[in-house]
Amino acid sequence: MKKLTVNAKTKNYDITIKEGLIAEILDYLQQDKKKFLITNNTLEKLYPDLVSSFENKIVIKDGEEYKNFETFEFIINELLKRKIERKDLILALGGGVVGDLAGFAAASVLRGVNFVQIPTTLLSQVDSSVGGKTGFNTKYGKNLIGAFYQPESVLIDTNFLKTLPVREIKTGLGEVVKYSFIEKNCSDDEKIHLSKYLDEADSNNLDFKEIIYRSVALKASVVSKDEKEAGLRAVLNFGHTFAHSIETITNYKKFTHGEAVAMGMKLAFELSYNLNFINKEYLDYAFNLIDKFNLAPVYKIECDKDEYINIMKSDKKVSNSKIRLVLPTSKGEVKIFDNIKEDDIKKVL
Ligand code: NAD
Ligand code: GLY
Repeated sequence: MKKLTVNAKTKNYDITIKEGLIAEILDYLQQDKKKFLITNNTLEKLYPDLVSSFENKIVIKDGEEYKNFETFEFIINELLKRKIERKDLILALGGGVVGDLAGFAAASVLRGVNFVQIPTTLLSQVDSSVGGKTGFNTKYGKNLIGAFYQPESVLIDTNFLKTLPVREIKTGLGEVVKYSFIEKNCSDDEKIHLSKYLDEADSNNLDFKEIIYRSVALKASVVSKDEKEAGLRAVLNFGHTFAHSIETITNYKKFTHGEAVAMGMKLAFELSYNLNFINKEYLDYAFNLIDKFNLAPVYKIECDKDEYINIMKSDKKVSNSKIRLVLPTSKGEVKIFDNIKEDDIKKVL
């Protein structure tokens, strides 16, 4: 078992990582609290005993397309219909979609009910369950409605990964590799750095407990310093501004989030190289690492470059209509720029 603590300004909480943790879940939850489990229909089918062991469960439809106001409203109505009280506990069992929606429902209903994240995808175990970003998508863009609302705890059972399709494992690895490119920004503690570990790892035989531990430790370090993204936390968005355009242009159908992030990181590396921020050796290293885990299905997409740039401008990070880009500047380190010329960006698209 591995344990970590997030010391965010609004809340301190534990993250527990253990194979088989779910079998002892009740030991980790306060017994006397009424619990409301929020999950989706795929997890209900895959884990019927676990889901049916909760009297109060709310099952939503599976898919990013259901991460919307309608599903949010459905969850809130179910919670209120079943007379949730402020002292009760909401449990989010699922990937990032369930976690983000359930977290925002917890933040909103009765002005805030405690919730526990039980992430079941690699992406949610290394990223979305930690740090308190919650919300849903609108027709104007991804995650534009939401709140920073930290969970009471995060319970990570690596056994869930046994039923996860390979493509979803890779989408999580996209975020893991991202952490390796920003590790020096996140923490000086080399014991939790990922680059050396990933360089030496056998891509067919990964130790997920170790990977999740280091990823979450790096993220926890950032969230502890900058919970609400006043500055540093933006480094976690490395590759994401490009990815956001890739996902939007392809209607969220062609690539998973992690695949888009991997493609976005390659574009960010190419842009940095063109601007002389990094040398050829680091560019090649980065491409090789992304390819070692086979994360980016293609490098560039067919697109209208003006549309691509416009979508980049609708990103939440935009300030004064300027695109903010997180770009690599040296091994394991990135910087945030808001002065990159659109022509330079277009050259790499
Ligand atoms: P997801 O929640 O859609 O899950 C991917 C698929 O895996 C789904 O079909 C799901 O039903 C299935 N699944 C989940 N657990 C499974 C298991 N154990 N076995 C088999 N199948 C399983 O996607 P995701 O990649 O987990 O998360 C993506 C979402 O997370 C996006 O909406 C993104 O915006 C959000 N996100 C949020 C943050 C944050 O900080 N809050 C960070 C990154 C991403
Ligand atoms: N996934 C980016 C963040 O949590 O800030």
